[in-house]
Amino acid sequence: MKVLLFGGAGYIGTHVALEFLQREDQVGIFDNFSSGLRTNVDSRVTLYEGDIRNKGQVVEALKDGWDTIVHLAAFKAAGESMISPIKYSENNITGSLNLITAAIECGVKNFILSSSAAVYGEPQYLPVDEQHPTKPTNYYGYTKLAIEENLAWYSELKKLNYVSLRYFNAAGYDPEMRMLGLERNPANLIPVVMEVAAGIRPNMLVFGTDYDTHDGTGVRDYVHVTDLARGHVLAADHLESGAGNLVVNLGSEEGLSVNQIIESARAITGRQISVEYVGRRAGDPAKLVASSKRAHKVLGWKAEYSSVDSIIETTWRVYEAQGTNLIN
Ligand code: WQD
Repeated sequence: MKVLLFGGAGYIGTHVALEFLQREDQVGIFDNFSSGLRTNVDSRVTLYEGDIRNKGQVVEALKDGWDTIVHLAAFKAAGESMISPIKYSENNITGSLNLITAAIECGVKNFILSSSAAVYGEPQYLPVDEQHPTKPTNYYGYTKLAIEENLAWYSELKKLNYVSLRYFNAAGYDPEMRMLGLERNPANLIPVVMEVAAGIRPNMLVFGTDYDTHDGTGVRDYVHVTDLARGHVLAADHLESGAGNLVVNLGSEEGLSVNQIIESARAITGRQISVEYVGRRAGDPAKLVASSKRAHKVLGWKAEYSSVDSIIETTWRVYEAQGTNLIN
């Protein structure tokens, strides 16, 4: 299979590339390196340096003939999307429409979207399944839903086949340490905890201790990036086999609290990890946990690396190896 990964030099994209390369598929990466790292790009891939906001560059890449494209090039910071919505509409909506229309114009039949649990907004019931109402509470989540809705229209009107993978909280690193690029200035919990453990930042804030959860701190469904990456390979095979469009959650189905993550990190790293308990962060739900039954049933997907210790251990190895040269 010939698969082109838009945003393939990023955290998720690099792991997805590894899984396709592992089974001898022909892999391309299209990236503007705004956050992706050149060190992440495997020498076996065909590299296109470009921007999805430039449709001409997208068409040039697609003219080389690709069976499937994977869209991992959306901006993903929910908080930032509320401050800079134009950045998000230009890249996540206009850029994604460039990909969809260019795919149709160039005869690419199969499209896999990196989507997000953010499309659901505040959970009305748990675990969240794919029938849950989609009422995003941040602009980032809205852009992901807008892309999904356009895929549904273009599939009906122009026979584009697609799978939308709704990730819950992506975490962890390649167990074989083939991916060593660390996110710069992370805002997500696990990289923040790791930066404190590695001495890159002196301490961290825990947002809220009065949630209706077992220990009062926020609970999320952390899913290992290798499990997510394998979901993309299964989705590509699903489309290749002509099995039709699909929207699925990819989550571990296990909820872990902020305190549980911090305690696991203290035990595994042996570091003190200084925290300060403060008020809630605006827009945070108390708990968000997936039902991934449809992914199990239709794709045969399961989360094999997503235990808390596997997530923390695989992440700590990378920070411990690189942390010192990241200390400001
Ligand atoms: C997890 C928990 C925080 C940082 C976001 C996006 C979502 C998706 C994943 C792309 C919460 C707490 C965090 C910190 C803390 N992105 N926390 N101190 O908010 O669940 O999801 O990333 O698809 O769209 O919204 O992830 O890691 O930011 O927070 O206490 O310094 O950790 O309050 O309970 P979140 P997160």
